[in-house]
Amino acid sequence: MTPPRRELLDVGDAAAEATADEVAATHVGPRPLDPVATPAEEGDETNLRPRTLADFTGQPDLVEHLSIVLEAARRRGAPPDHLLFAGPPGLGKTTLAGIVAQEMGVGLRVTSGPVLARAGDLASTLTDLQEGDVLFIDEIHRLARTVEEVLYPAMEEGQLDVMLGKGPTARSLRLDLPRFTLVGATTRTGLVAGPLRDRFGFVGRLELYDPADLERIVTRSAGLLGIAITQGGAAEIARRSRGTPRIANRLLRRVRDVAEVRAHGEITQQVATEGLELFGVDELGLDKLDRAILEVLAVRFDGNPVGLTTLAHAVGEETETVEEAYEPYLIRQGLLHRTPRGRVATDRAFAHLGIVRGDGRLL
Ligand SMILES: Nc1ncnc2c1ncn2[C@@H]1O[C@H](COP(=O)(O)OP(=O)(O)OP(=O)(O)O)[C@@H](O)[C@H]1O
Ligand SMILES: [Mg+2]
Repeated sequence: MTPPRRELLDVGDAAAEATADEVAATHVGPRPLDPVATPAEEGDETNLRPRTLADFTGQPDLVEHLSIVLEAARRRGAPPDHLLFAGPPGLGKTTLAGIVAQEMGVGLRVTSGPVLARAGDLASTLTDLQEGDVLFIDEIHRLARTVEEVLYPAMEEGQLDVMLGKGPTARSLRLDLPRFTLVGATTRTGLVAGPLRDRFGFVGRLELYDPADLERIVTRSAGLLGIAITQGGAAEIARRSRGTPRIANRLLRRVRDVAEVRAHGEITQQVATEGLELFGVDELGLDKLDRAILEVLAVRFDGNPVGLTTLAHAVGEETETVEEAYEPYLIRQGLLHRTPRGRVATDRAFAHLGIVRGDGRLL
């Protein structure tokens, strides 16, 4: 296994920021636009999580559908159907699991696919549930097959099969479980086994947020954190957050520091613009790795189609990272196309980079 290149880049980023500005020096962290949370961020995020559906901004179709599922369950006096939330990192899957428990007035147990390594781990988690609880399994696509097999009868019939003893004297025992709602989350729906997917009564797909929703989220978070921000400041952060609430909240915190050092604490549009440029986030919400991808396509390969593996190699990233964390936003921005022969930079990408197609000349 080659070591992840991300670490090398992080060191570079951190070093560049430390010399770039005294403000940025306090943030030796991930690239500002990484949709994945750092361990340090997870605590911060808890404070900003909406707790009720009414407080959850955006994703209107999903919210409407989910509110019907929850209301129907309330009227029946039964736990809601098992729910699966799918979508890119940082869009609100964990948040929604918490909201389901809160709205139903029940407890929330949190675990994940990789943590439930053996069937026994799941068995003990299940027998520990209280009536009506929400069991949240994050990264459910990473559950081991043997663990999935314990999960099926639990989801369908509320039963747990336990094997007692070994060999010819082994007996199996059925235990009744309390009624519960399984909430699964995955960034990779394609990797959730068909039989598992079919056992969910509701699959909610989260899409990238539009700038207006992100602006509301930034304003809400600023309120909770006691940050002064103008509408223009919130709009600027929203526009450059790649459709992702986690990134919007992260940029808000980082720009706050710039505002404190340089602008008496208020985030105006100008402060936001300055701060974001300082962190290497351009006006389309691209960072230097996005631009490196586009440059490889436009300059090194002259606008010709490039295979994913070659592209990832050229920018020193894993293929999955390029495919899952970078491409969706570049595609959505109309900067990159996937064609049967490979990835290509669009005219908009050439224009954004300031490059003339064909000869790689700067405009
Ligand atoms: N609709 C929303 N309204 C307000 N804030 C949101 C919304 N969705 C997400 N957030 C914020 O974004 C952050 C990340 O959300 P969350 O942790 O739920 O994402 P996730 O989809 O579970 O990501 P991952 O795939 O990495 O686990 C949270 O701190 C939350 O405050
Ligand atoms: Mg999550």
